Amino acid sequence: MIIAQNVFPVIIAKTKWQDRHLLGEAFDKEINDILSAVPDDRKIDTAKGEYSTTIRQFNDVMNLPSMAPFRTWAESVMKDLWKEIGYEDCDIAIERSWINQFFKGSKLGGHAHGSTEMVMTYYHKMPPGSSAITFYNPFEGQTGMAPYKQKLFTIQPEEGDLLAWPGFLWHEVEEQPVDAGRMAISMHVHQGSYSLANRWRKIS
Ligand SMILES: [Fe+2]
Repeated sequence: MIIAQNVFPVIIAKTKWQDRHLLGEAFDKEINDILSAVPDDRKIDTAKGEYSTTIRQFNDVMNLPSMAPFRTWAESVMKDLWKEIGYEDCDIAIERSWINQFFKGSKLGGHAHGSTEMVMTYYHKMPPGSSAITFYNPFEGQTGMAPYKQKLFTIQPEEGDLLAWPGFLWHEVEEQPVDAGRMAISMHVHQGSYSLANRWRKIS
């Protein structure tokens, strides 16, 4: 027997960028300039237990000139992924890209990304001991069959990894236990056309 159709998939995709050396000095310089322009009082907000040492205020990191090689690759990955899920060939629109930089004590409380179709996060710097990301089962309490009743799913990303998941999926990043900087680049990805129903392969 084969699985004819996984009707309600909740995917978390993972791959690795093999050309990460292309984000070299030019990228580091652009990022350092941005980071140094963030006021100190916006970098640390551990009182709320979330969003510490972050430059979420900076959007469109994917539009930096040094990001071009990565962007080309990331868009092709997302196109392939969408095709695998069941959409026909479609355009990619990357929106609201930003950087989260963590030091010791930084964490991201549980959250989702609303109506965003897909979230992609690229792990640019993951020093040894860096914190993981944990996803929550959106079907918790509604299913009885393993592994679907598993409540949490944790991934320990490595440098160069790219994760993608649907925007409704609740997730959190555990507290960074080491002082070395953890840097992740996240983005919202939509299809170039919003007529999704027309792009869904018909199944019967
Ligand atoms: Fe998130």
